[in-house]
Amino acid sequence: MKKKVLFGLFVLVMCFTIIGCGKEEEKSKTDYLVLVNKQSKLPEDWEERIELVDYTNGLGETVKIEKKAAKAFEELREDLKKEYSDFVIEADSTYRSVARQQEIWDEFLNEKGEEYTKKYVAVPGTSEHHTGLAIDIKLDKNGTIVYDNDEMTAEKDIFSRIHAKLADYGFILRYPEGKEDITGYGPEVWHFRYVDDKEIAKEIMDKGITLEEYLKNK
Ligand code: DAL
Ligand code: ZN
Repeated sequence: MKKKVLFGLFVLVMCFTIIGCGKEEEKSKTDYLVLVNKQSKLPEDWEERIELVDYTNGLGETVKIEKKAAKAFEELREDLKKEYSDFVIEADSTYRSVARQQEIWDEFLNEKGEEYTKKYVAVPGTSEHHTGLAIDIKLDKNGTIVYDNDEMTAEKDIFSRIHAKLADYGFILRYPEGKEDITGYGPEVWHFRYVDDKEIAKEIMDKGITLEEYLKNK
């Protein structure tokens, strides 16, 4: 009898250990601080480590975004909508396959030339958009869509109000002005990156640093 009780206890402990370990593994599967840039390619097994969900973007297309990033982006949008009535943001480009990035690269190369393309478009395989954690936004200002990159950059007042809220939802501005030598890209006021940690996001945004600088000094 005693042996049976002991065996039962052993089985129970093993079950909790296995379930507990499983949870731990699930928690750490996605590296929300993953660094993808010109020097650091997307990890080979990345697709197995993220959960992408379908999402309707501002163009009415069904796109994919990492699950937690999608939820956080909706919360950010709700917050902005409540506070401001002169603009609305929606998602534009989100998760991209390597093939899609190649199409974008080719389009830019044809339309804008090599210098511009290298400054604003990642070589396929090195885009943060492959992670599912990056969102380019579409800006609607008083009912008019601001499409062009230069026109978006000129909307300093609107973007400073948007950027001030990013960290509250676990996002950072990935390509800030003046950091081209570190990020490898020109400033992109529209490209937000989800890091899943409000404290880290706040530190990065408050200090005005890049993900590269945060990771190097942490
Ligand atoms: N625009 C960013 C750098 C990308 O293409 O991923
Ligand atoms: Zn982007």
